[in-house]
Amino acid sequence: MYGSDLKGGFVDIGYDLFHDRATLKTTFIEADIFDPESKLKPLEGTVDIVHASSFFHLFDWDDQVNAAKRVVQLLKAQPGSMVVGRQIGHVDAHAVVHRFLSGKTLFRHNVESFAKFWKQVGDETNTSWEVDAKLDDENLADKFGAKHEEVPDGTRWLMYSVRRV
Ligand SMILES: C[S@@+](CC[C@H](N)C(=O)[O-])C[C@H]1O[C@@H](n2cnc3c(N)ncnc32)[C@H](O)[C@@H]1O
Repeated sequence: MYGSDLKGGFVDIGYDLFHDRATLKTTFIEADIFDPESKLKPLEGTVDIVHASSFFHLFDWDDQVNAAKRVVQLLKAQPGSMVVGRQIGHVDAHAVVHRFLSGKTLFRHNVESFAKFWKQVGDETNTSWEVDAKLDDENLADKFGAKHEEVPDGTRWLMYSVRRV
């Protein structure tokens, strides 16, 4: 099992939190998903399942496509390879303006846009993907709305698994 993040400092925080520095068998790799020459390169074509939670939603549509295309390169090029996770979505798919990165937008998917997104990723990588996604019932605006203005009514967790066919 491998874990990866842009910021290697999170790995130390994790070891401190879970007290498992001496026992955890995971290999952690500090890498930028958008860098094709990162330390993830040796893993290309070797991964069975990528768990990407609260991740694609960090980016606009085009960068989500770029990130997903990199994920496709990391996965084994065979049916059954999977991407699973959970991210913030919305009943009406739309881009939201980033809270503090000026000019940046984040794309919030619903089930339909997420399927369209993976169709595009498939078309651009000559691969096919079966998308199973659903929006949770809980309205995140009720949970976070008071603190975060970018959590409007209709914001939900989108849970998904995407399987190469
Ligand atoms: C909201 S956190 C989610 C972390 C974890 N997957 C979870 O569900 O708790 C998003 C993570 O993506 C990382 N990240 C942001 N941009 C990245 C990039 N270009 N490449 C790799 N990781 C990135 C951030 O450093 C951050 O730790």
